[in-house]
Amino acid sequence: MGATIRQATVQDAAALAELAAITFPLACPPSSAPEDIAAFIDANLTEEHFGGYLADPQRTVLVADDDGSLGGYALLVSAPPADPQVAKVLEAAAQPVIELSKCYVHPDHHGAGLAAALMAASVAHGARLGAASLWLGVNDENARAIRFYQKSGFVQMGTKTFMLGTRQEHDYVMVRPTD
Ligand SMILES: CC(C)(COP(=O)(O)OP(=O)(O)OC[C@H]1O[C@@H](n2cnc3c(N)ncnc32)[C@H](O)[C@@H]1OP(=O)(O)O)[C@@H](O)C(=O)NCCC(=O)NCCS
Repeated sequence: MGATIRQATVQDAAALAELAAITFPLACPPSSAPEDIAAFIDANLTEEHFGGYLADPQRTVLVADDDGSLGGYALLVSAPPADPQVAKVLEAAAQPVIELSKCYVHPDHHGAGLAAALMAASVAHGARLGAASLWLGVNDENARAIRFYQKSGFVQMGTKTFMLGTRQEHDYVMVRPTD
């Protein structure tokens, strides 16, 4: 793992959108419709969207910079969850709690320790922001990511639903302390 983990800047917006377009589909269940995946990317993960995330004081984007190319990214959101289902689950978590909204690694770097480095940096950043715990949502069919999050100290505390196009997907809500 030769990559450096650093905070992203607006200069990374285009590369982040390119990476997100490759990695988001990998997190979706095999039954997802390609047009729903494409619509989600258009609505949330374009260069313009990343420009907005990077300018938002409540969001932090961390990237794994592999000699100028991005091998992975994570997005932290320090705002209360908008979803009441999640807010209910998180009542039992150590407060304050910050969302690890995205953790995505290019398939060329899977199984290589890059995701673990990104996770360690995300947890450390969450702690610096004052969070006592981090939460995330992961599709219940995404076995690789669930295993990775379990290995990274997250435990399932509840569930939530997520709309991808017209299909309702089911996510696990997982939480870990930042210390
Ligand atoms: C999730 C992600 C960041 C994890 O990074 P990674 O480098 O793949 O993680 P690791 O290889 O360290 O850990 C994955 C674990 O899952 C295991 N695994 C792999 N495929 C699996 C499967 N189909 N079922 C169960 N476990 C599986 C691996 O063996 C490994 O566990 P081990 O170390 O105990 O052997 C990365 O896979 C990724 O970006 N995936 C695509 C996007 C995504 O799904 N992001 C998460 C959205 S919530």
